[in-house]
Amino acid sequence: MKHPHDHHGRGDRHGARQPERFDPARAALLDDPARFAYLPPAEVVAWLDPPAGATVVDFGAGTGTYAIQIARARPDVKVIALDEQPEMLARLRARPEAALPNLATATPERLPELIGRADRVLALNVLHELGDDALRDLAALPAAGGFALIIDWSAEVERPVGPPRDHTYSQREAIARLEAAGFAVEPLAPARYHYVLRARAAAADRAGRS
Ligand SMILES: C[S@@+](CC[C@H](N)C(=O)[O-])C[C@H]1O[C@@H](n2cnc3c(N)ncnc32)[C@H](O)[C@@H]1O
Repeated sequence: MKHPHDHHGRGDRHGARQPERFDPARAALLDDPARFAYLPPAEVVAWLDPPAGATVVDFGAGTGTYAIQIARARPDVKVIALDEQPEMLARLRARPEAALPNLATATPERLPELIGRADRVLALNVLHELGDDALRDLAALPAAGGFALIIDWSAEVERPVGPPRDHTYSQREAIARLEAAGFAVEPLAPARYHYVLRARAAAADRAGRS
């Protein structure tokens, strides 16, 4: 049987090239509230723990399923749902529940103005889709004292949902990739099917930037 995520490119996930991206034709999968059973939005908000008034960039927000939940849970926080596929952001904006004053959408053209300005960055089910250039873009976003929360399907867990395991990383592989991109990584307790990593700019990298 063809797996619903068989659109992902195989074999190039460790390379510099952008792996095959998520097909907007499958966007309805992202809207499925069944996702909340194994990855509760309240837990994502708790892991992010944005300070009052923070800017949170949801990098690879897709149709905004979690960006909407974060913006709802924290009306004091500005959520920027960023995605490289305008079709995804169009779907997000078409959702009635996305009409929130603290939720905005952005395409990567906005990245330069967001460098060093995001108190929190969320990358949910995105790391396995990112090439090295995109990962560098993500790594440039956190503000001093901020961090990126990287949550992605674990290659180590047998699961009935998500991409095939050989399209995703083990926690160890994900950490190695993030460290190579200049992050210092702290693993948090995993979710049912996902690893959860808090990634800050490594001290030397931060010093080099300031
Ligand atoms: C599997 S979807 C996950 C969407 C969302 N985070 C969620 O969990 O509902 C991955 C998304 O990342 C986006 N994406 C991949 N590479 C990106 C990049 N370099 N910059 C911005 N968005 C990217 C894709 O367009 C896609 O919408």
